[in-house]
Order: sequence, then C-alpha cells, then structure tokens
Amino acid sequence: MIYLSEVRSYAMDLKIVLLGPPGSGKGTQTERLCAELKFTKISTGDLLREAVKQGTPLGIKAKSYMESGGLVPDQLVGDLIKEKLTGQKGGVLLDGFPRTVEQAKMLDQIIKVDLAIDLEVDEELLVKRLTERRVCKSCNSVFHLEFNPPKLAGKCDKCGSDLIQRNDDSEKVVRERLRVYKEKTLPLTRYYYDKQILVRINGQGDISDVYERVLKALKSHKKKN
Ligand code: AP5
Repeated sequence: MIYLSEVRSYAMDLKIVLLGPPGSGKGTQTERLCAELKFTKISTGDLLREAVKQGTPLGIKAKSYMESGGLVPDQLVGDLIKEKLTGQKGGVLLDGFPRTVEQAKMLDQIIKVDLAIDLEVDEELLVKRLTERRVCKSCNSVFHLEFNPPKLAGKCDKCGSDLIQRNDDSEKVVRERLRVYKEKTLPLTRYYYDKQILVRINGQGDISDVYERVLKALKSHKKKN
C-alpha cells in the first residue's frame, strides 16, 4: 500500500465524487476508502434502498424507479443529499451522486467538489459483475460469486447473515440501468472534465489493484494543488 500514508494526511478534507457505470466498483472502493482514509460515505443507492425497506415517503416514491432500472427524480435525491451534507465536516466521498448534470449543479450549490473519479469497465464485464453480485441482507457487505466470494457460500463474512441478490441485478434490469447510465450519467464526465477535476481510472483488474490506482489519483491531485 505505497500511497496510503502519503495520502492520509491531506485526503481527510477532500470532497470526492465517484462516478462510473453500475457495477464499476464504486461501492466496493468506497467501503475501503472510507475505512482507511476516514471519509464520510454518502451513497444515494444505499440511502434509497434503506428508505424503500423502511417504507418512508421517499422510499415509497423511489421504489418503482429503482426496480425498473430508472433514476429517481433529481429533486427527491437532491433534497436527500442536501439533508446529508448540511453541517458535514471533513472529507466526503459521494458514491452514486450526482448522476445527472442537474444533480451536479445542485451539488455545486452545497459543496465545492475537489475531484471526480470515473471508474471505467467494459460493458459485458459489468453485466457479469452485477448479475453475480450478492449482498448481505443485514450489513449490506458486497460479494461476487466468482471475483469476491464469501468464505462460506451464501453467508456474509462480516456478520454471518444470508446473502441475497439485489432486485435490480437481474440481467434485464441491469441492461436497462446501463442504458440509462449512458443516456443520463455519462454526460457528467464532460461536466467535470470541463472543470478540470476529472480523473479516469481503469476499473478492471483485482479490487486491490483498482484501489491502488485510486490512491495514486489522490496523490497526483495533491501534487497539482
Ligand atoms: P446504486 O446502488 O448507486 O447502483 P449503481 O450505481 O447502479 O451501482 P452499483 O451499486 O450497482 O455498482 P457499484 O459500482 O457500486 O459496484 P460494486 O462495488 O457493488 O443505485 C441503485 C439505484 O438507486 C439506481 O438504479 C437508481 O434507481 C437509484 N439511485 C441511486 N442514486 C441515485 C441518484 N443520484 N439519482 C437518481 N437515482 C439514484 O461492485 C459490483 C460487483 O462487482 C460486486 O459483486 C463486487 O464484488 C464486484 N467487483 C467490484 N470491483 C471489482 C473488481 N475490481 N474486480 C472484480 N469484481 C469486482
């Protein structure tokens, strides 16, 4: 872990958005970055799934969009993010927000984004990653049947609960999510490129190799600023 100590000292104040298509590894990298660099994690996917599970007014409105592979309306997600970011101090890692240029503009009204990291992965690999993903129904830890299998089949390594498949991880819905990503989220890379804060990272290879690349990007960011 050659970059970790060098990055730790200043990364704690960065505001980072993690872009990339469904299955590119945003959640996986976020978990590790937050554990090792103490960022506050804000994942709109996790927050929305929890709202659906709890049956809150937001969850009731979001459910059908999520199940069909579409995006939840900007205003609903924008309000959620505003609530989460208000009064937030220190480094923040946003996983899955923004997802449209409109959301990026909303975010600019709340915080100044320092870095946008875009994880790039081939489409067929994304489909394999998502359709064979399993998540813990209790603690939301993420596994993959082939690339990141649990030690005991069907059980979470961390808490021992059952692993399940997400509702939106069927191949049909995955393909729709990828279509929506290309139409609505891909233009965001241009938005951050124009602001000169976009870093593209190869999201293929071992999880730890991708992590090293992300740390390297954080290190290069420091050099420039
Ligand atoms: P969300 O939960 O954010 O889903 P997503 O963006 O589609 O991303 P995923 O969680 O599916 O994938 P990931 O990139 O995190 O990959 P992961 O690390 O799990 O959003 C769900 C829904 O909520 C959306 O469709 C939308 O409806 C709604 N929503 C959320 N945010 C919204 C917003 N801002 N606006 C509007 N609507 C919003 O990895 C995937 C698999 O690959 C895992 O099995 C993992 O173990 C494996 N893996 C990861 N890295 C590697 C690697 N390097 N090598 C091999 N396997 C790997």
